[in-house]
Amino acid sequence: MPQTKIAGIGYYVPENIVTNNDLLKHMETSDEWIQERTGIKERRYAHRTEETTTTMGVEAAKIAIERAGITNDDVDFIIFATISPDYYFPGCGVLLQRAMNMKEIGALDIRNQCSGFIYALSVADQFIKTGMYKNILLVASEKHSFGLDFSTRGRNISVIFGDGAGAVVLQPTEEKNRGILSTHLHSDGANAEMLAMFNPGTHANHWMPEAVADFDEAEIGEMFMSHAMIDKAQNFPTMDGPAVFKKAIVKFPEVIMEALSKNDLTAKDIGTLIPHQANLRIAQFVQQKLQLRDDQVFNNIDKFGNTTAASIPIALCEAWEQGKINNGDLVCLAAFGSGFTWGSALLRW
Ligand code: UT7
Repeated sequence: MPQTKIAGIGYYVPENIVTNNDLLKHMETSDEWIQERTGIKERRYAHRTEETTTTMGVEAAKIAIERAGITNDDVDFIIFATISPDYYFPGCGVLLQRAMNMKEIGALDIRNQCSGFIYALSVADQFIKTGMYKNILLVASEKHSFGLDFSTRGRNISVIFGDGAGAVVLQPTEEKNRGILSTHLHSDGANAEMLAMFNPGTHANHWMPEAVADFDEAEIGEMFMSHAMIDKAQNFPTMDGPAVFKKAIVKFPEVIMEALSKNDLTAKDIGTLIPHQANLRIAQFVQQKLQLRDDQVFNNIDKFGNTTAASIPIALCEAWEQGKINNGDLVCLAAFGSGFTWGSALLRW
């Protein structure tokens, strides 16, 4: 059975840099608070009308395809991971297919939030190993800036997120001990509402009776996204930050250790750990817990913030471009986020 290798990688971030001080225009916060609690100095925001989740994904995909030495016509399957899609439906996979003039191939959308890239990588790995596809284009992209509460009410979330996209081309390789060694996926829906965006959604009476208690029958057609929901800020993400933080610092090391022990390896063997860029404090905690040296962990949250599904491929690409990942290196990817869903992947570069 072949293994799955990353044949090409690329990323794209919008030109528009938004510093912590820029956010002071909208909300009560401070550069000091944001840097101290998250490690973020600045993030990128997409152009409001000219850039979308899909167009950023296309830019990252073009680079990954060129670096893989293939053409758009060679791509035989698309996987697109995002929680900030251009449309509620259809997904971004088909929009990217159209924008890149690709032939009539399958396109799958994955909405596993922060762990979206790891989930997508695992799905792609199964397709490649079974011989079903030879060139899978996996794109992860987010345009968070379009749907955040920029008032003081939403500051615990809005200061964290940034926009950007990453992409990889995955191919089979017959080389032993090369490419993806294993992937590990987990979820636990018990705390699904701890980090969530409820609308537009069909949950109304079921999960959140209080949200619709004061609606009358005349509004029934508006349940999907009503004026009242917008007035109550239910069209923005909400998060119990400290609770998510506490869970993340347990699950990150656990799922990394799971990947290492599955492959008879230890933390000392890791060449580069790319943790999902949720909060620098979480990454630092994981580094400490696994006793990793600074040069074993790559973070770029200070420049780009948390780009959810896109954060791992953006960081992976940056680390590789900076010469921090070389042939034969052991690379560990790990993510934790909304759902909760979490996962890891171990790769021999
Ligand atoms: O990628 C998806 C997964 N997400 C995560 O992994 C995020 C995990 N959580 C976190 O990273 C942290 O919980 C946050 C960075 C979101 C928040 O940091 P925190 O240290 O947990 O702050 P907190 O929510 O406990 O709030 C502490 C205080 C509160 O004020 P009071 O009640 O103590 O007066 C907040 O109102 O900080 C206040 N606060 C802010 N102050 C200035 C919250 N956000 C801000 C802000 N600027 N942006």
